[in-house]
Amino acid sequence: MTRTGSADLVIVANRLPVDRVTASDGSRQWRRSPGGLVSALEPVMRANDGAWIGWPGDAGQDLKPFVDDGMSLVPVGLTADEIAEFYEGFSNGTLWPLYHDVVAKPEFHREWWEAYVAVNKRFAERAAEVASKGATVWVQDYQMQLVPQMLRELRPDLRIGFYLHIPFPPAELFQQLPWRRQLLEGLLGADLVGFQLGGAAQNFIRLVRQRVGHKTHRDLVYLPDGRMVKAAAFPISIDAAGFEDLARSPAVERRAKTIREALGSPRKVFLGVDRLDYTKGIYPRLRAFAELIRDGHLDVEDAVFVQVATPSRERVEQYRILRDDIDRLVGRINGDLGRIGRPAISYMHSSYPREEMAALYRTADIMVVTPYRDGMNLVAKEYVACRFDNDGALVLSEFAGAADELRQAWLVNPYDINGMKAALLEAYHAEPKELSRRMKALRKTVIEHDVAKWAGSFLAELAATRPSHGKVVRPARRS
Ligand code: F6P
Repeated sequence: MTRTGSADLVIVANRLPVDRVTASDGSRQWRRSPGGLVSALEPVMRANDGAWIGWPGDAGQDLKPFVDDGMSLVPVGLTADEIAEFYEGFSNGTLWPLYHDVVAKPEFHREWWEAYVAVNKRFAERAAEVASKGATVWVQDYQMQLVPQMLRELRPDLRIGFYLHIPFPPAELFQQLPWRRQLLEGLLGADLVGFQLGGAAQNFIRLVRQRVGHKTHRDLVYLPDGRMVKAAAFPISIDAAGFEDLARSPAVERRAKTIREALGSPRKVFLGVDRLDYTKGIYPRLRAFAELIRDGHLDVEDAVFVQVATPSRERVEQYRILRDDIDRLVGRINGDLGRIGRPAISYMHSSYPREEMAALYRTADIMVVTPYRDGMNLVAKEYVACRFDNDGALVLSEFAGAADELRQAWLVNPYDINGMKAALLEAYHAEPKELSRRMKALRKTVIEHDVAKWAGSFLAELAATRPSHGKVVRPARRS
C-alpha cells in the first residue's frame, strides 16, 4: 500500500519549473524558468497545496523536495544513462520526430523503450507518494505517457488528467511504433486526455478503437471496467497580459529602439524566434527571404532578417546536423548577398530573457513562424500580445496548431518556397490599414484565450468527468 501525501493538486512534468545551475562561485542554485505553464498554474497550485514533480535538468540522484515561492517542488533524478536513453533517446529521438509528421526519421531501440518505462514508473511512484487522498494529478506531455496508467494502479482514488503539448499523429504514422498499444493504454489511465487540436483527439480515439479494441463514441472511450475516458482539445496559450505589460514598459521600448538602430535602421525587420529544432522550418524560411533579395524584390539596405535560434537538445544527432546546416546556410546567404555593415541575416544562436524577446517582438515588422509541424507555437501568440498598437504582420505556417485560431495571419505552407516568398512580400508591402485590420482580430483571439483560461478549462473539464470521485480543485485565491 502506497503512503499518501498532502498535495491536493499535483503536476507531473518532465522538467521542474526551475533549473539547477552552477553560480559563478561554483555553488549549485535553482533558477526559475519563465514558462507560461508555471505562471498559469502557480495561483491554483498555491490554493490547493500543490506539488510539481519533475527532473531538475542534470544528471544526479533524487534531491529532497523543497518549497519555492509557495509551491512544493519534488525533484526526480535521472542518471546519465537515463538522460541518454529516456530523454535524448525515446522522448526526443523516437517520439518527437514520430509525433511531428516524421519530419526526421524516428529511431526505434528497445533499450530506449525500457528506460522510458523505468523513468515513467519513477515519476508515477513519486506522484503516488505526494498526492493526498482523492487529489487531482495533471500529467504533462509526451515524455510521461505511461504515467497515467501506472499511477492509477498505485492510486485508484485519484482524478488523473493528461495533456499532450505536441501534435498527436494520425494512425498511419503512430502505428509504426513497436510499443503503440502500451502507450495508448498508458494514456487511458487518465480520466481526461487533452490535446492542442480536435484532430489530434480524433486520431487518439480512432487508434484506441483500432489498436486496443475499446468501444468509443465521439470523444469518449468506454473501458471494460465501466470507467470512461474523455479526449478533447484545449489549445494552449500564453500569459498575454504579462507579455503586453512587458512590451509597454519604457525599458523594452528603449531596447527595441536600440536594436533597430544597431541593425542600421532598415525600413523593415523580419524576425524568426525558435528553439533550434528541425520541426521549426528555419531553413526554408531563410531560403525564401534570401531568394527575395537575390531576385531583386528586397534589398539589404531596406530589409534584414533577424533569426534567434535557442540552443536545444544539443547532444541529439539530428539537432547537431541541423545546427551545421543552418550555420552553413546563413554563412552562404550573407557571403553572397550581404554588404559591408549590412548582412542579409542577423543570426543569434542564443537564448534570451523575456524582456529581450519582448523588445525583439516590438522591433519586428514581420514575424515569420514557419514550422513543418508544431503542436501550437507560442512565439506566434507572444508576438501578437506585444503588438498593442495593432501593427506588425504575422506570417504563420498552416501546420502550426496556432493557425487554427490565428486565421488573420498570412498563412503559408513551409514546403512551398514560392508561396512563402509571395506571402513575405505581401506582408512587407501591406498597407497600415490592412495590418491593423488583421492584428486587431489576432489580438482579440490571443487576449481572450490566455493560458490561465486554458488551465482553468482543462481542470474544470477534468472535475466534470467524474463528479462524485475525488476532491474538488479550489479556484486560485485572489491576492
Ligand atoms: O514543446 C514541447 C516541449 O517539451 C516543451 O514542453 C519544452 O519547453 C520544449 O519542448 C523544450 O524541450 P526540452 O525539455 O527537451 O528542452
